[in-house]
Amino acid sequence: MNAEREKLVIAACAQREQSYSPYSRFRVGAALLGKSGKTYLGTNVENASFGLSICAERSAVVSAVSAGEQEFTAIAVCADGPKPTAPCGACRQVLLEFGPEMPVILAGESGLDGDILELTVGELLPHAFFDFTDQIRTKD
Ligand code: THU
Repeated sequence: MNAEREKLVIAACAQREQSYSPYSRFRVGAALLGKSGKTYLGTNVENASFGLSICAERSAVVSAVSAGEQEFTAIAVCADGPKPTAPCGACRQVLLEFGPEMPVILAGESGLDGDILELTVGELLPHAFFDFTDQIRTKD
């Protein structure tokens, strides 16, 4: 793994410490690298109404887009537990919106000292639903 991606994993693992997860007690951090070189951080924020919880990956995307960045080079995700955790289906779909080629680097709580999985968004979500606007029937 290159130094840039290693830095991203370290940032994601540090961000995990900010997690608000009193219900699951499962902390997740994400670090999303923008084409500008800036890194956007996200963590999971849970809610007493469980379904309203937001994952770390989507938090990072919201943070980046809110800051004006919409093109990304890579994302690292670091979760509690000994093994790398793969993003949920909703996060895969949200990441796909910004391109299927983006590498997703997955780490467990030991960060760079543990197992690392590296996949593209497209590999995580093959045959995905994507922009359908060119397939809409237009009125004659
Ligand atoms: N979670 C994430 O933040 N990212 C994932 O990819 C999987 C799950 C969070 C959601 C919830 O706060 C906790 O992990 C347990 O599901």
